[in-house]
Amino acid sequence: MAYPYQIKTQADYEKAYKKSVEDPEGFWSAIADTFYWRKKWDKVLEWDFSGPDAPQVKWFQGARLNITENCLDRHLDTRGDQPAIIWEPNDPDEHHRVLTYKQLHQKVCIFSNALKNNGVKKGDRVCIYMGMVPELAIAVLACARIGAIHSVVFGGFSAKSIADRILDASADFVITCDGAYRGNKVIPLKSVVDDALVQCPDVKKVIVLTRTHTPVSMIKGRDVWWEDEIKKVETLGNPPCPAEEMDAEDTLYVLYTSGSTGKPKGVVHTTAGYMIYTAYTFVNVFNYQPGEVYFCTADIGWVTGHSYIVYGPLAAGAVSVMFEGVPTWPNAGRLWEIVDKHKVNTIYTAPTAIRSLMAHGLGFVEDKDLSSLRVLGSVGEPINEEAWHWFDEHIGKKRCPIVDTWWQTETGGILISPIATVTHTKPSYATLPLPGIQPAIMDEKGQEIPAPQKGEQVSGNLCIRFPWPGMLRSTWGDHERCRKTYFDAYPGKYFTGDGCLRDGDDGYYRITGRVDDVLNVSGHRIGTAEVENAINMHADVVESAVVGYPHDIKGQGVYAFVITEKEPDNPNLARKDILETVARIIGPIAKPDKIQFVKGLPKTRSGKIMRRILRKIAEGEMENLGDTTTLLDPGVVDDIKQGKL
Ligand code: PRX
Repeated sequence: MAYPYQIKTQADYEKAYKKSVEDPEGFWSAIADTFYWRKKWDKVLEWDFSGPDAPQVKWFQGARLNITENCLDRHLDTRGDQPAIIWEPNDPDEHHRVLTYKQLHQKVCIFSNALKNNGVKKGDRVCIYMGMVPELAIAVLACARIGAIHSVVFGGFSAKSIADRILDASADFVITCDGAYRGNKVIPLKSVVDDALVQCPDVKKVIVLTRTHTPVSMIKGRDVWWEDEIKKVETLGNPPCPAEEMDAEDTLYVLYTSGSTGKPKGVVHTTAGYMIYTAYTFVNVFNYQPGEVYFCTADIGWVTGHSYIVYGPLAAGAVSVMFEGVPTWPNAGRLWEIVDKHKVNTIYTAPTAIRSLMAHGLGFVEDKDLSSLRVLGSVGEPINEEAWHWFDEHIGKKRCPIVDTWWQTETGGILISPIATVTHTKPSYATLPLPGIQPAIMDEKGQEIPAPQKGEQVSGNLCIRFPWPGMLRSTWGDHERCRKTYFDAYPGKYFTGDGCLRDGDDGYYRITGRVDDVLNVSGHRIGTAEVENAINMHADVVESAVVGYPHDIKGQGVYAFVITEKEPDNPNLARKDILETVARIIGPIAKPDKIQFVKGLPKTRSGKIMRRILRKIAEGEMENLGDTTTLLDPGVVDDIKQGKL
């Protein structure tokens, strides 16, 4: 079955884009018609980006459906025996696993029944903290099947981060593993959950999957084994698990992400619009053809895994490869070995992975057969030209289009990206908005900058002026926070937090990076305020300021300026203590790359830290610090400059 909405030519794209702007309801309802509904909608779209309760966004109001019937059941007759998930383990010597649509459907139904037996009901929040095993996808889909709201927490977050998320979402259930394999490490997930749950007495059940045989403490009455719960369902003869009928706007999941304040927010995605948007963008951006093997290297703990390992590909009936390990273990050829082994047609990865593999040389690439590849994708951060060309030449052998996909946790799916085989690509440009996406570039005064003429470029802050089906609907438990964060800066528009440049010659967009206090470290989104709060928890620390700086592999590194009670006797040990504190409070992913002890921070008379100056110092730009006369004590800057790492 081909996809009726697949864009095959530039003319198709232009026609689809025009229709999506002139008649968005007609455009999206024609696509939605190709999905399976228990009941169709009464109204396609109702929205408000500027009122006091903004955002109010409802797609496909009145429709009834279950996303798993679209991701699983409806494929059973047409491609029941086709692989849905090919799972590649961390250890290349362990056998890979293939789950066909029939098998995945069956496993999801069984685990759905196990969840129900454990008291999980529609609307309940379920925190999932697992490694990249097929059961993670099964757990996510089982929640969706019974109408429970999943909140997946990436395996690199600390016990405290898990506890904060469980408490914020009032999750009563947790699904985890004894441990997870990542490269040569074993991460004791259950033990981290146990530490988290000391702060979460309301959690009723923890379901634990065996993966690593790491010793765990199972608490009576609270903790149960995944395998035992499955057996209980199986001894009942695997009763069917009819999917719960959901409203189009029922919450599908909550996913926590960092912003410019200290506390991560739970981004809320709902059911129908998200499903249609992820499937539509998956099929079009990657020019996916039925039966092709698609491999996204992300972790399901991040939005990329939600939208483009699980929901988008499965809604499109694709073959989705899921990888447990890391690109550099046992060696830097692992991703290419997977491409070779499973005859992957599309690989979707992050610039940080490409840069780190580049650094290991071509030896790990040249002995692999990459001839199955047809499309390459990049996501998570700006891709620098060097990495783009390496990907193009050495992986795509100059015959595979690279889609540089720009989007965010909040957007649910890709917004600006080339369409593979259709859009002419240009290194470091995400190129053009997908159908349905209406970008606006804003200046500092809040005015929209007109489209650039030929030979001209404009830059400013990137907003989106019209709703799209996959967008966030709220932030969990605090709708006003959603309005303030995304709809206040530019009234009537969604503000992305990213800066962008547009080239008048081709109308292409280039994303230049965050304009707020959010860092993008190895494609992981980290709030500077969050890291500062964590550093400040250390007993010896008085105050700190965290900024990003350009890092060859990670894209951005974390640079922390720290004031301590007294000068540390052993600065190296003091640095390690601070790193340990950050790992405890947030997780190892947020550990600063550099810590500089300082006596003072550059502050204005009103007490605001001038991060602009710290950013320049961290970047090594000592000369051009701009105006420092408004500082309370300009001498501080010289001290910091002298001590620069
Ligand atoms: O700054 C942009 C950057 O990643 C941010 C979103 O991060 P997160 O919510 O974690 O989602 C990442 C995966 C979708 C954006 O605000 N970003 C993402 N993709 C690109 C990008 N920057 C430049 N080019 C991209 N292709």
